[in-house]
Amino acid sequence: MTSPSGAGVEVRNVHKSFRVDGQSVTVLDDVSLTIGMGEFVSVIGPSGCGKSTLLKVVAGLLDADSGSVTIDGESVSSASADKKIGLVPQSPALLPWKTVLENVQLPLNVNRRSNGGRSIGDAETLLGRFGLGAATKKYPGQLSGGMQQRAAIARAFVFDPAIMLMDEPFSALDEMNRDLQRIALLDFWQSNRKAVMFVTHSVPEAIMLSDRIVVMAAHPGRIAEIIDVDLPRPRNEDVYATDAFRDLEKIVRDALRAQTERAHV
Ligand SMILES: Nc1ncnc2c1ncn2[C@@H]1O[C@H](COP(=O)(O)OP(=O)(O)OP(=O)(O)O)[C@@H](O)[C@H]1O
Ligand SMILES: [Mg+2]
Repeated sequence: MTSPSGAGVEVRNVHKSFRVDGQSVTVLDDVSLTIGMGEFVSVIGPSGCGKSTLLKVVAGLLDADSGSVTIDGESVSSASADKKIGLVPQSPALLPWKTVLENVQLPLNVNRRSNGGRSIGDAETLLGRFGLGAATKKYPGQLSGGMQQRAAIARAFVFDPAIMLMDEPFSALDEMNRDLQRIALLDFWQSNRKAVMFVTHSVPEAIMLSDRIVVMAAHPGRIAEIIDVDLPRPRNEDVYATDAFRDLEKIVRDALRAQTERAHV
């Protein structure tokens, strides 16, 4: 499936290696991926296959060795300076000396010059949407891991970025809250479509949320398969019980199993 309206994220032939114990280890081997504006793409794959590395390259936190990334037609550095990229990292990285509300407001105070003309979400409203309305004056140390993760999600949305990059944002939540937050994220995204790149280890989560699922393989990290998720939208929890969902679950699990088995032979 191609993008509904233009290229949000374009990753072209990206290679990335790290030096480990004096040796160069390839973590991203010729990765190419396009995420259209308004498209939700999940990335799934065995631990260590390079999912976070890919996300960091797209976010501009790491430079690729070769290849290119453009965001909404711009270089990553200019998109980032324009605050077009929202990032929810794998660990929440909240400032412990600031309250939840101050943490969420933080992006508004950084590089104020690029704020002009941007639609800015109200931090308190956003916190309410992610179930933290009663915690705005608390400090991160007073919150559970899952609540910290939700505060990090609210912070990433405060600038109404065109591109949202999320690295296992719900991994610290219990099953009930995980489901609630998936629905909250879907509702939010369905009313306000962005290009989303969403890293997860959960097959049901990837299916529930995505238009496409990118299955990565390890050693070297690369794209093994891309699976279309053609379930109708808007989606809610009823989708889990459908035959179409179960069929997709089998397809994605088989693809993942093939990659994991290959890694162990
Ligand atoms: N800064 C770094 N220096 C050296 N090696 C690194 C660095 N960052 C990541 N790696 C290695 O690159 C590989 C991919 O790491 P990455 O964090 O992208 O994996 P991942 O797919 O996100 O894994 P997980 O599912 O466990 O989060 C791993 O082998 C990791 O050890
Ligand atoms: Mg990771």
